[in-house]
Amino acid sequence: MKRLLFALLIVAVLFAGCSGKAASGKPKIGAAIYKFDDTFMSYVRNSITENAKDKAEVEVVDSQNAQPTQNDQVDAFLSKKMNAIAINPVDRTAAASIIEKAKAKKTPVVFFNREPLAEDMGKWDKVYYVGAKAEQSGTMQGQIVVDYWKANAAADKNKDGKIQYIMLKGEPGHQDAELRTQFSIKAVTDAGIAVDKLAEDTAMWDRPKAFDKMKAYLAAYKDKIEVVFCNNDDMALGAIEALKAEGYFAGKKQIVVVGVDATAPALQALEEGTLLGTVLNDAKNQGKATFDLAYALAKGEDVAKAGWEITDGKYVWVPYQMVTKDNYKNFK
Ligand code: GAL
Ligand code: CA
Repeated sequence: MKRLLFALLIVAVLFAGCSGKAASGKPKIGAAIYKFDDTFMSYVRNSITENAKDKAEVEVVDSQNAQPTQNDQVDAFLSKKMNAIAINPVDRTAAASIIEKAKAKKTPVVFFNREPLAEDMGKWDKVYYVGAKAEQSGTMQGQIVVDYWKANAAADKNKDGKIQYIMLKGEPGHQDAELRTQFSIKAVTDAGIAVDKLAEDTAMWDRPKAFDKMKAYLAAYKDKIEVVFCNNDDMALGAIEALKAEGYFAGKKQIVVVGVDATAPALQALEEGTLLGTVLNDAKNQGKATFDLAYALAKGEDVAKAGWEITDGKYVWVPYQMVTKDNYKNFK
């Protein structure tokens, strides 16, 4: 009897190994985040883990901003027979080889936050993307500046009718960095306001890097700067720190700074009146959609029934929202 039980146990373990199901019977999902040390991505990560509770066993790994590390992690997920994988690529052009490997093992993939090229997305039908329309965030950020500019004549410090601005970009090549940069300015010029770019450079989504860049710009352009556009809130907060050190935001020395993400410290800055506005990058829903899709795929179910609108058969777009002093409390 004991032997029989033991044999059954072995069979059960082997079977679990083959089907990829966890011992608990729940589907297994492997998730890789491009790096844990990124404020916004840590919100997305938390949302994935929270949504997975009681439903699936999710293993989340830190790719430490290195594509080779992530490639190894994907290999490990595939050899562990995960039922689906959710990948936030370090380098979005690496998606092609990830898709090939996953396809060979029949393991569905949900990419998120860093959008693979359309030609790669088309390589297999079990490939999805969850993200937000980068253009939309740029347009909304520009709109916040337009509204303020039109209502506050003092914002035009040299009274030339143009906006003298600095652009702090995210990681070059990232769709959010490129399109936010382009569409924020487009919203301003579309509103009939001329612009004068003083400087533009990447600060890699990073607060300390933005602080250093802003310090250098303040030394170079002094009080000529009227608006600081930042592709995300962490960089906006770095810029604000540098501006504070130069006496800004006290009394008459004002300047416009805008970001994207609506992180908790950014909402705090909005309340304090240093950050003029931001755009909600909805981490909760991006994390939920990523999990819901991966979960449906892991169970071999129809993704269309996962509760999200699927565009072009492959994309879930989570909308952005403008956040200013008027409504920031709703996002806390
Ligand atoms: C953006 C976000 C940035 C950064 C980046 C990482 O959507 O606004 O703060 O997290 O994703 O890929
Ligand atoms: Ca001006």
